[in-house]
Amino acid sequence: MNEIQQLESVLLARLDTLEEPRDVLKALEIKQLYATIPTLEPSERGAYGKQINELKQTLEAAVADKESQREAADSVPLDVTAPFDTNSSMPKLLPVDGGSVHPLRQEIATLIGIFERMGFVAEESREIDDQYHMFESLNFPAGHPARDEYDTFMTTQKDENGEAFIAPAHTSTMQNRILRQYRDNLVADEPIAAIVPDRTFRNEDLDARHEHTFYQVEGVYVAKGVHAGMLIATLQKFLSEYYGKDIDVRVNPFYFPFTEPSFEMSLSCPFCEGKNPDCKVCSGEGWIELLGCGMIHPNVLKAADIDPNEYTGFAFGCGIDRLVMMKYGIEDVRHFESAKLDFLKQF
Ligand code: PHE
Repeated sequence: MNEIQQLESVLLARLDTLEEPRDVLKALEIKQLYATIPTLEPSERGAYGKQINELKQTLEAAVADKESQREAADSVPLDVTAPFDTNSSMPKLLPVDGGSVHPLRQEIATLIGIFERMGFVAEESREIDDQYHMFESLNFPAGHPARDEYDTFMTTQKDENGEAFIAPAHTSTMQNRILRQYRDNLVADEPIAAIVPDRTFRNEDLDARHEHTFYQVEGVYVAKGVHAGMLIATLQKFLSEYYGKDIDVRVNPFYFPFTEPSFEMSLSCPFCEGKNPDCKVCSGEGWIELLGCGMIHPNVLKAADIDPNEYTGFAFGCGIDRLVMMKYGIEDVRHFESAKLDFLKQF
Protein backbone atom coordinates (compact mmCIF):
# COMPACT_ATOMS: atom_id res chain seq x y z
CA MET A 1 0.00 0.00 0.00
CA ASN A 2 1.50 3.37 -0.87
CA GLU A 3 1.33 6.47 1.30
CA ILE A 4 -1.70 7.91 -0.53
CA GLN A 5 -3.73 4.70 -0.21
CA GLN A 6 -2.75 4.51 3.40
CA LEU A 7 -3.81 8.07 4.04
CA GLU A 8 -7.09 7.23 2.36
CA SER A 9 -7.88 4.56 4.94
CA VAL A 10 -6.79 6.81 7.80
CA LEU A 11 -9.01 9.66 6.58
CA LEU A 12 -11.97 7.36 5.90
CA ALA A 13 -11.68 6.11 9.49
CA ARG A 14 -11.46 9.68 10.76
CA LEU A 15 -14.76 10.53 9.04
CA ASP A 16 -16.66 8.65 11.73
CA THR A 17 -15.10 10.69 14.49
CA LEU A 18 -15.75 14.12 13.03
CA GLU A 19 -18.69 16.24 14.05
CA GLU A 20 -18.65 17.76 10.54
CA PRO A 21 -17.71 14.98 8.05
CA ARG A 22 -16.81 17.68 5.51
CA ASP A 23 -13.85 18.77 7.67
CA VAL A 24 -11.97 15.69 6.54
CA LEU A 25 -11.48 17.39 3.16
CA LYS A 26 -9.46 20.07 4.91
CA ALA A 27 -7.06 17.55 6.51
CA LEU A 28 -3.55 18.84 6.88
CA GLU A 29 -2.19 15.60 5.44
CA ILE A 30 -3.79 16.33 2.05
CA LYS A 31 -2.09 19.73 1.94
CA GLN A 32 1.16 18.00 2.78
CA LEU A 33 0.70 15.65 -0.18
CA TYR A 34 0.28 18.60 -2.52
CA ALA A 35 3.36 20.19 -1.00
CA THR A 36 5.49 17.19 -1.90
CA ILE A 37 4.68 17.46 -5.65
CA PRO A 38 7.40 20.04 -6.39
CA THR A 39 9.98 17.80 -4.70
CA LEU A 40 9.30 14.92 -7.12
CA GLU A 41 10.96 14.19 -10.45
CA PRO A 42 9.01 16.12 -13.14
CA SER A 43 8.12 12.82 -14.83
CA GLU A 44 6.46 11.52 -11.65
CA ARG A 45 4.45 14.61 -10.79
CA GLY A 46 1.52 13.94 -13.14
CA ALA A 47 0.80 10.45 -11.81
CA TYR A 48 1.20 11.57 -8.21
CA GLY A 49 -1.16 14.53 -8.68
CA LYS A 50 -3.71 12.23 -10.30
CA GLN A 51 -3.60 9.93 -7.28
CA ILE A 52 -4.20 12.84 -4.93
CA ASN A 53 -7.18 13.91 -7.01
CA GLU A 54 -8.56 10.38 -6.89
CA LEU A 55 -8.10 10.39 -3.12
CA LYS A 56 -10.09 13.63 -2.92
CA GLN A 57 -12.87 12.20 -5.08
CA THR A 58 -13.10 9.10 -2.88
CA LEU A 59 -13.28 11.31 0.20
CA GLU A 60 -15.93 13.58 -1.36
CA ALA A 61 -18.07 10.53 -2.09
CA ALA A 62 -17.58 9.17 1.44
CA VAL A 63 -18.48 12.56 2.95
CA ALA A 64 -21.66 12.71 0.87
CA ASP A 65 -22.53 9.18 2.03
CA LYS A 66 -21.89 10.03 5.65
CA GLU A 67 -23.97 13.19 5.43
CA SER A 68 -26.95 11.37 3.97
CA GLN A 69 -26.58 8.55 6.52
CA ARG A 70 -26.61 11.10 9.33
CA GLU A 71 -29.64 12.84 7.89
CA ALA A 72 -31.43 9.51 7.69
CA ALA A 73 -30.39 8.59 11.24
CA ASP A 74 -31.65 11.94 12.53
CA SER A 75 -35.12 11.25 11.24
CA VAL A 76 -35.40 7.70 12.62
CA PRO A 77 -36.39 7.30 16.27
CA LEU A 78 -33.90 5.39 18.43
CA ASP A 79 -34.78 1.71 18.44
CA VAL A 80 -33.76 0.42 21.88
CA THR A 81 -34.55 -3.14 20.82
CA ALA A 82 -32.25 -2.94 17.80
CA PRO A 83 -29.91 -5.94 17.68
CA PHE A 84 -26.12 -5.84 17.50
CA ASP A 85 -24.28 -2.62 16.88
CA THR A 86 -26.96 -0.54 15.22
CA ASN A 87 -27.50 1.71 18.20
CA SER A 88 -23.85 2.44 18.87
CA SER A 89 -22.86 5.84 17.60
CA MET A 90 -21.39 9.02 18.96
CA PRO A 91 -24.15 11.62 19.15
CA LYS A 92 -23.41 14.99 17.58
CA LEU A 93 -22.31 17.64 20.03
CA LEU A 94 -25.17 20.03 19.32
CA PRO A 95 -26.98 21.61 22.26
CA VAL A 96 -30.68 22.03 21.56
CA ASP A 97 -33.23 24.45 23.03
CA GLY A 98 -31.01 25.79 25.78
CA GLY A 99 -29.96 22.28 26.81
CA SER A 100 -26.34 21.30 27.15
CA VAL A 101 -24.16 18.44 26.01
CA HIS A 102 -23.87 15.72 28.67
CA PRO A 103 -20.73 16.30 30.79
CA LEU A 104 -19.28 12.91 29.87
CA ARG A 105 -19.68 13.64 26.16
CA GLN A 106 -17.97 17.01 26.62
CA GLU A 107 -15.07 15.35 28.43
CA ILE A 108 -14.85 12.59 25.84
CA ALA A 109 -14.51 15.24 23.12
CA THR A 110 -11.66 16.80 25.15
CA LEU A 111 -9.82 13.55 25.61
CA ILE A 112 -10.22 12.59 21.95
CA GLY A 113 -8.61 15.95 21.09
CA ILE A 114 -5.61 15.24 23.33
CA PHE A 115 -5.04 11.77 21.91
CA GLU A 116 -5.52 12.95 18.32
CA ARG A 117 -2.77 15.49 18.85
CA MET A 118 -0.56 12.58 19.90
CA GLY A 119 -1.39 10.76 16.62
CA PHE A 120 -4.15 8.40 17.79
CA VAL A 121 -7.42 7.91 15.88
CA ALA A 122 -10.68 7.47 17.79
CA GLU A 123 -12.99 4.52 17.14
CA GLU A 124 -16.33 3.48 18.59
CA SER A 125 -17.13 0.34 20.53
CA ARG A 126 -20.44 -1.54 20.54
CA GLU A 127 -23.23 -1.89 23.05
CA ILE A 128 -23.68 -5.57 22.34
CA ASP A 129 -20.77 -7.82 21.48
CA ASP A 130 -19.84 -11.49 21.31
CA GLN A 131 -17.86 -13.79 23.58
CA TYR A 132 -15.01 -14.04 21.10
CA HIS A 133 -14.22 -10.31 21.35
CA MET A 134 -14.96 -10.17 25.08
CA PHE A 135 -12.78 -13.19 25.98
CA GLU A 136 -11.14 -15.53 23.45
CA SER A 137 -9.43 -12.86 21.34
CA LEU A 138 -8.05 -11.44 24.60
CA ASN A 139 -6.38 -14.67 25.69
CA PHE A 140 -9.06 -15.72 28.20
CA PRO A 141 -9.62 -19.40 27.32
CA ALA A 142 -13.04 -20.94 28.11
CA GLY A 143 -13.37 -21.52 31.86
CA HIS A 144 -10.52 -19.11 32.73
CA PRO A 145 -11.11 -17.78 36.27
CA ALA A 146 -10.28 -14.19 35.22
CA ARG A 147 -13.57 -14.18 33.28
CA ASP A 148 -15.33 -13.80 36.64
CA GLU A 149 -13.84 -10.31 37.03
CA TYR A 150 -16.00 -9.17 34.14
CA ASP A 151 -19.53 -10.02 35.24
CA THR A 152 -21.92 -8.26 32.89
CA PHE A 153 -25.28 -8.58 31.15
CA MET A 154 -26.09 -11.21 28.54
CA THR A 155 -28.90 -11.78 26.09
CA THR A 156 -31.08 -14.86 26.17
CA GLN A 157 -30.75 -14.96 22.39
CA LYS A 158 -27.75 -17.03 21.24
CA ASP A 159 -25.37 -16.49 18.34
CA GLU A 160 -24.46 -19.14 15.75
CA ASN A 161 -22.01 -20.74 18.22
CA GLY A 162 -24.78 -21.14 20.79
CA GLU A 163 -23.29 -18.39 22.96
CA ALA A 164 -25.15 -15.43 24.48
CA PHE A 165 -24.40 -11.92 23.25
CA ILE A 166 -22.81 -9.77 25.88
CA ALA A 167 -22.88 -6.12 26.98
CA PRO A 168 -19.14 -5.37 26.87
CA ALA A 169 -17.61 -5.10 30.36
CA HIS A 170 -14.59 -3.22 29.00
CA THR A 171 -13.53 -1.49 25.81
CA SER A 172 -10.79 -4.12 25.34
CA THR A 173 -13.42 -5.96 23.25
CA MET A 174 -12.27 -3.63 20.45
CA GLN A 175 -8.58 -4.57 20.60
CA ASN A 176 -8.80 -7.38 18.05
CA ARG A 177 -10.84 -5.24 15.64
CA ILE A 178 -8.46 -2.27 15.95
CA LEU A 179 -5.43 -4.50 15.36
CA ARG A 180 -7.04 -6.02 12.27
CA GLN A 181 -8.39 -2.76 10.91
CA TYR A 182 -5.03 -0.96 11.10
CA ARG A 183 -2.69 -3.91 10.50
CA ASP A 184 -1.69 -2.48 7.10
CA ASN A 185 -0.16 0.52 8.89
CA LEU A 186 2.61 -1.79 10.11
CA VAL A 187 3.49 -2.89 6.60
CA ALA A 188 3.84 0.78 5.70
CA ASP A 189 6.11 1.28 8.74
CA GLU A 190 3.46 3.33 10.54
CA PRO A 191 2.23 2.48 14.04
CA ILE A 192 -1.23 1.27 14.94
CA ALA A 193 -2.43 4.05 17.25
CA ALA A 194 -6.09 4.12 18.24
CA ILE A 195 -8.29 4.93 21.20
CA VAL A 196 -11.83 3.74 21.87
CA PRO A 197 -13.80 5.95 24.26
CA ASP A 198 -17.20 4.34 24.73
CA ARG A 199 -19.79 2.78 27.01
CA THR A 200 -19.18 -0.32 29.12
CA PHE A 201 -21.42 -2.32 31.42
CA ARG A 202 -21.07 -4.42 34.56
CA ASN A 203 -23.34 -6.30 36.89
CA GLU A 204 -22.40 -4.21 39.94
CA ASP A 205 -23.86 -3.54 43.35
CA LEU A 206 -24.49 0.17 42.87
CA ASP A 207 -22.93 2.74 45.16
CA ALA A 208 -21.16 6.10 44.92
CA ARG A 209 -18.23 4.46 43.09
CA HIS A 210 -19.98 1.73 41.08
CA GLU A 211 -22.46 2.10 38.26
CA HIS A 212 -23.85 -0.55 35.88
CA THR A 213 -23.19 1.69 32.89
CA PHE A 214 -19.96 3.61 32.66
CA TYR A 215 -17.34 4.74 30.18
CA GLN A 216 -13.81 3.63 29.43
CA VAL A 217 -11.17 4.77 27.00
CA GLU A 218 -9.09 1.98 25.53
CA GLY A 219 -5.73 2.73 23.94
CA VAL A 220 -3.84 0.46 21.54
CA TYR A 221 -0.38 1.23 20.15
CA VAL A 222 1.69 -1.25 18.12
CA ALA A 223 4.91 -0.81 16.13
CA LYS A 224 8.46 -2.17 16.08
CA GLY A 225 10.34 -1.70 19.35
CA VAL A 226 7.48 -0.38 21.51
CA HIS A 227 8.35 -0.67 25.21
CA ALA A 228 6.73 0.01 28.58
CA GLY A 229 8.46 3.38 28.97
CA MET A 230 6.47 4.61 25.97
CA LEU A 231 3.24 3.43 27.60
CA ILE A 232 3.98 5.28 30.83
CA ALA A 233 5.11 8.46 29.06
CA THR A 234 2.00 8.49 26.84
CA LEU A 235 -0.36 8.17 29.80
CA GLN A 236 1.50 10.70 31.90
CA LYS A 237 1.36 13.18 29.03
CA PHE A 238 -2.33 12.51 28.52
CA LEU A 239 -3.15 12.99 32.23
CA SER A 240 -1.10 16.19 32.48
CA GLU A 241 -2.88 17.63 29.43
CA TYR A 242 -6.27 16.53 30.69
CA TYR A 243 -5.85 18.10 34.13
CA GLY A 244 -3.85 21.07 32.83
CA LYS A 245 -1.02 20.51 35.33
CA ASP A 246 1.97 18.23 35.83
CA ILE A 247 0.73 14.84 37.01
CA ASP A 248 3.00 12.17 38.48
CA VAL A 249 2.23 8.54 37.81
CA ARG A 250 3.42 5.31 39.37
CA VAL A 251 2.88 1.73 38.29
CA ASN A 252 2.45 -1.47 40.27
CA PRO A 253 2.51 -4.98 38.83
CA PHE A 254 -0.94 -6.39 38.11
CA TYR A 255 -2.57 -9.20 36.16
CA PHE A 256 -4.65 -9.13 32.99
CA PRO A 257 -4.72 -12.12 30.62
CA PHE A 258 -4.30 -9.85 27.59
CA THR A 259 -1.17 -7.95 28.67
CA GLU A 260 2.23 -9.17 29.86
CA PRO A 261 3.61 -7.54 31.89
CA SER A 262 0.47 -5.87 33.27
CA PHE A 263 0.33 -2.81 35.48
CA GLU A 264 -2.04 -0.78 37.51
CA MET A 265 -1.28 2.91 37.21
CA SER A 266 -1.89 5.48 39.93
CA LEU A 267 -1.75 9.22 39.48
CA SER A 268 -0.85 11.96 41.92
CA CYS A 269 -4.09 13.51 43.21
CA PRO A 270 -5.07 16.18 40.67
CA PHE A 271 -7.41 17.72 43.23
CA CYS A 272 -5.18 18.40 46.26
CA GLU A 273 -1.80 17.55 44.66
CA GLY A 274 -1.05 15.44 47.73
CA LYS A 275 -1.19 18.46 49.99
CA ASN A 276 -4.48 17.96 51.84
CA PRO A 277 -4.58 15.18 54.45
CA ASP A 278 -8.41 15.53 54.48
CA CYS A 279 -8.82 15.46 50.66
CA LYS A 280 -12.07 13.67 49.75
CA VAL A 281 -10.79 12.67 46.31
CA CYS A 282 -7.61 10.79 47.40
CA SER A 283 -8.53 10.25 51.11
CA GLY A 284 -5.33 12.10 51.96
CA GLU A 285 -3.21 9.40 50.29
CA GLY A 286 -1.93 11.68 47.53
CA TRP A 287 -2.20 8.80 45.00
CA ILE A 288 -5.24 7.34 43.26
CA GLU A 289 -5.39 4.00 41.44
CA LEU A 290 -6.74 4.81 38.05
CA LEU A 291 -6.28 2.37 35.24
CA GLY A 292 -5.08 -0.97 33.93
CA CYS A 293 -2.43 -1.21 31.26
CA GLY A 294 0.45 -3.29 29.97
CA MET A 295 2.32 -4.67 27.01
CA ILE A 296 -0.04 -6.47 24.62
CA HIS A 297 0.22 -10.24 25.12
CA PRO A 298 1.78 -12.12 22.15
CA ASN A 299 -1.38 -14.26 21.89
CA VAL A 300 -3.52 -11.13 21.38
CA LEU A 301 -1.26 -10.00 18.54
CA LYS A 302 -1.35 -13.52 17.04
CA ALA A 303 -5.17 -13.54 17.19
CA ALA A 304 -5.04 -10.53 14.86
CA ASP A 305 -2.40 -12.14 12.59
CA ILE A 306 0.37 -9.82 13.77
CA ASP A 307 3.78 -11.41 14.35
CA PRO A 308 4.78 -10.82 18.00
CA ASN A 309 8.42 -11.48 17.12
CA GLU A 310 8.41 -8.48 14.87
CA TYR A 311 6.03 -6.07 16.59
CA THR A 312 5.22 -5.14 20.17
CA GLY A 313 2.64 -2.82 21.59
CA PHE A 314 0.95 -1.41 24.64
CA ALA A 315 -2.68 -1.12 25.66
CA PHE A 316 -4.51 0.67 28.42
CA GLY A 317 -8.07 0.95 29.66
CA CYS A 318 -9.07 3.93 31.77
CA GLY A 319 -12.42 4.65 33.43
CA ILE A 320 -13.65 7.97 32.07
CA ASP A 321 -16.20 8.59 34.84
CA ARG A 322 -13.39 8.46 37.43
CA LEU A 323 -11.27 10.90 35.43
CA VAL A 324 -14.12 13.37 35.20
CA MET A 325 -15.12 12.96 38.85
CA MET A 326 -11.59 13.84 39.92
CA LYS A 327 -11.50 16.85 37.63
CA TYR A 328 -14.63 18.44 39.08
CA GLY A 329 -14.77 16.85 42.55
CA ILE A 330 -17.99 14.94 41.72
CA GLU A 331 -18.67 12.67 44.69
CA ASP A 332 -21.12 10.13 43.25
CA VAL A 333 -20.79 8.33 39.91
CA ARG A 334 -24.55 7.75 39.78
CA HIS A 335 -25.16 11.44 38.98
CA PHE A 336 -24.00 10.85 35.43
CA GLU A 337 -26.79 8.46 34.45
CA SER A 338 -29.40 10.02 36.75
CA ALA A 339 -30.78 12.61 34.30
CA LYS A 340 -30.93 15.08 37.22
CA LEU A 341 -31.19 18.49 35.61
CA ASP A 342 -29.69 20.37 38.55
CA PHE A 343 -26.54 18.26 38.13
CA LEU A 344 -26.42 18.43 34.33
CA LYS A 345 -27.04 22.16 34.14
CA GLN A 346 -23.76 22.84 35.93
CA PHE A 347 -21.84 21.81 32.81
N1 PHE B 1 -9.81 -3.91 30.21
C1 PHE B 1 -9.17 -3.78 31.49
C2 PHE B 1 -10.28 -3.56 32.56
O1 PHE B 1 -11.29 -2.99 32.27
C3 PHE B 1 -8.17 -2.64 31.51
C4 PHE B 1 -7.02 -2.85 30.57
C5 PHE B 1 -7.07 -2.44 29.26
C6 PHE B 1 -5.87 -3.47 31.03
C7 PHE B 1 -6.00 -2.63 28.40
C8 PHE B 1 -4.78 -3.67 30.20
C9 PHE B 1 -4.85 -3.24 28.90
O2 PHE B 1 -10.14 -4.00 33.67
